[in-house]
Amino acid sequence: MAVEKDPFPLFLAPMAGVTNSIFRRICKEKGADILTTEFVSADGIMHRNARTRGYVRFLENERPMGVQLFGGDPERLAEAAKLVIEWVQPDFIDINFGCPANKVVCRHGGSSLLRDCPLLEKVAVAVVRACDPLPVTAKIRIGWDEKSVNAPETARILEGVGIRRVAVHGRTRAQGYSGLADWEVISSVAAAVSIPVIGNGDITDAETALKRSSSGVMGLMIGRAAMSNPWIFTEINRAFRGESYQPPTLEERWDLVRRHCAEEIHDREDEKTAMHGMRGRLMAYTRGMHGARPLRAALSTISSLAELDDLIASHLAETLGD
Ligand SMILES: Cc1cc2nc3c(=O)[nH]c(=O)nc-3n(C[C@H](O)[C@H](O)[C@H](O)COP(=O)(O)O)c2cc1C
Repeated sequence: MAVEKDPFPLFLAPMAGVTNSIFRRICKEKGADILTTEFVSADGIMHRNARTRGYVRFLENERPMGVQLFGGDPERLAEAAKLVIEWVQPDFIDINFGCPANKVVCRHGGSSLLRDCPLLEKVAVAVVRACDPLPVTAKIRIGWDEKSVNAPETARILEGVGIRRVAVHGRTRAQGYSGLADWEVISSVAAAVSIPVIGNGDITDAETALKRSSSGVMGLMIGRAAMSNPWIFTEINRAFRGESYQPPTLEERWDLVRRHCAEEIHDREDEKTAMHGMRGRLMAYTRGMHGARPLRAALSTISSLAELDDLIASHLAETLGD
């Protein structure tokens, strides 16, 4: 069954090292409705670290745009949120309560707050107060581990202190990225609160998106699938409208990859560094392409746009014939 698109936004999931302004704008062009920066450390903001300032920057055509912050100290997070608002005037601030990484968790940030609800509440209260009237949203996992799945309770606490929307990644912290996202728990969060709940985890195509759209959620968030296929947003939007979808041709896919690389080079003003930084992304973009193995071996050592052009030309010739 097709669902009404509006109001049923598609979110690009925040992904560290992936969702910079260039990639966010690619996804927006392909149909993502709401964008967020990758998670940014409250401490980094407070130190006015140049790199951190780069993470929070965005262009006007990215709006509605959120900046995601993490940290475990309520006052520092609140101060950091105020600085971010002063610097870039985002449309919302998002708090990360989901990051599983040890270096974040051991400093009481990210998913560590899922097992310390009093501190989670203090963090949310402080940030909501500091940002008022700007909306504050949150992203959570379903719990710390399988024995402590508490996302409905966590969402109720967040709703109670004025958080305006909650995105739920349907995995526990202990799961990392293994196993499957539990959409039953996501559904139970949606039933537990009146604020919009956005479902996240393992949406790979229009079929899964349509299935998940009936979980009671008010929108869907897509991460890894967009890395190899930013057109996923177009595909899902068309499916929601009941329209047919024509996947991009191989040439169109390569055009986008090349454009992404060229924009990174322009942005970094250093071709080699930019292309090295793109290697992982090229692996994702070429997933599922014909002859992926030799292609990926070549891409793993790439250092220039000219090399990419040669690879694209030979891949197109081999795949489509001259
Ligand atoms: C490389 C990578 C980086 C991520 N960085 C963040 C982050 O900065 N903030 C955040 O809330 N989640 C982060 N996540 C989690 C994603 O936002 C998302 O919740 C997760 O990938 C599940 O969605 P998916 O199955 O659509 O990929 C990251 C995930 C990946 C794969």
